[in-house]
Amino acid sequence: MVAPSILAADFAYLADAARAVEGVADWLHVDVMDNHFVPNLTIGLPVVRSLLQATAIPFDIHLMITDPRRWAPEYAEAGAYNVTFHAEACDDPVALAKDLRAAGSRAGLAIDRDTPIEPYLDLLPHLDTLLIMTIKAGFGGQRFMPELLSKVRAARQRVAAEGLQIRIEVDGGIADDTIAQAAEAGADAFVAGTAVYGVPDAAEAVRRLRALAEGAQR
Ligand code: DX5
Ligand code: ZN
Repeated sequence: MVAPSILAADFAYLADAARAVEGVADWLHVDVMDNHFVPNLTIGLPVVRSLLQATAIPFDIHLMITDPRRWAPEYAEAGAYNVTFHAEACDDPVALAKDLRAAGSRAGLAIDRDTPIEPYLDLLPHLDTLLIMTIKAGFGGQRFMPELLSKVRAARQRVAAEGLQIRIEVDGGIADDTIAQAAEAGADAFVAGTAVYGVPDAAEAVRRLRALAEGAQR
C-alpha cells in the first residue's frame, strides 16, 4: 500500500492533491495535528469531511492528537477507511479500536519514535493497522531513521508467527532511497509526503515508490 501524505501538498489545493494520485495511490494519508500532542497544527474534521466528498481514494487518517477516544470515532463515521491514533495518547487502545470498528472504519495504532514496540505486540490481534513512525511525529520533511526499523522487524515477526491480518505501515522520510529497506524490514504500507508532493509529478512518484517496494519484497 502506498499512501501519499497531503501534509506535503499545497493546503490551498487539497482536493487537487488528492485527485493527482487517484488511480495510483492506495490510500490518502491525512495527518491531523492538534498543537497539543505535537507542536504542529494542521486540519480537523470539517476539512476531512469536505475532502472525502472530493475524491474516491480511501482515507488513512493519522491522528496526532490528545484524547483520541473523544475524536477518533467521528472520523470513522465521516467515512474514513482507516483511523490511526497514537499509543502515547491513549490508555485503552483495545477499547478505542473496538469503537472505531463499530463506527465503520479499520483501526490503527501508531508508535512514535521514542516508544518501544514490545508492550503493544500483544494488542495486534485487535488492530488492522500498526503505524511505526520512522521519524519523531509532528513535521514532514524529516530525515528517515533506519534504527527504528527494528520495531518493524519485531512486529513482522509476531504477525508471521501468529498468522495475523494486519498492515505494518511506516511513516516519515520514506522516499526512493529509503523505501526498500523499510519493505525488507517487513513493512507493507508506506506513507510518503515530501517524496510525492515535493516533486512535479506526484502520480509518477507513487508508481516509482511502489516499484521499489515491490522489488525489495521479492
Ligand atoms: C509527520 C507525519 C507524516 C509526514 C511524513 O508526523 O505523520 O505523515 O507527512 O512526511 P515525509 O514523507 O515528508 O517525511
Ligand atoms: Zn502521518
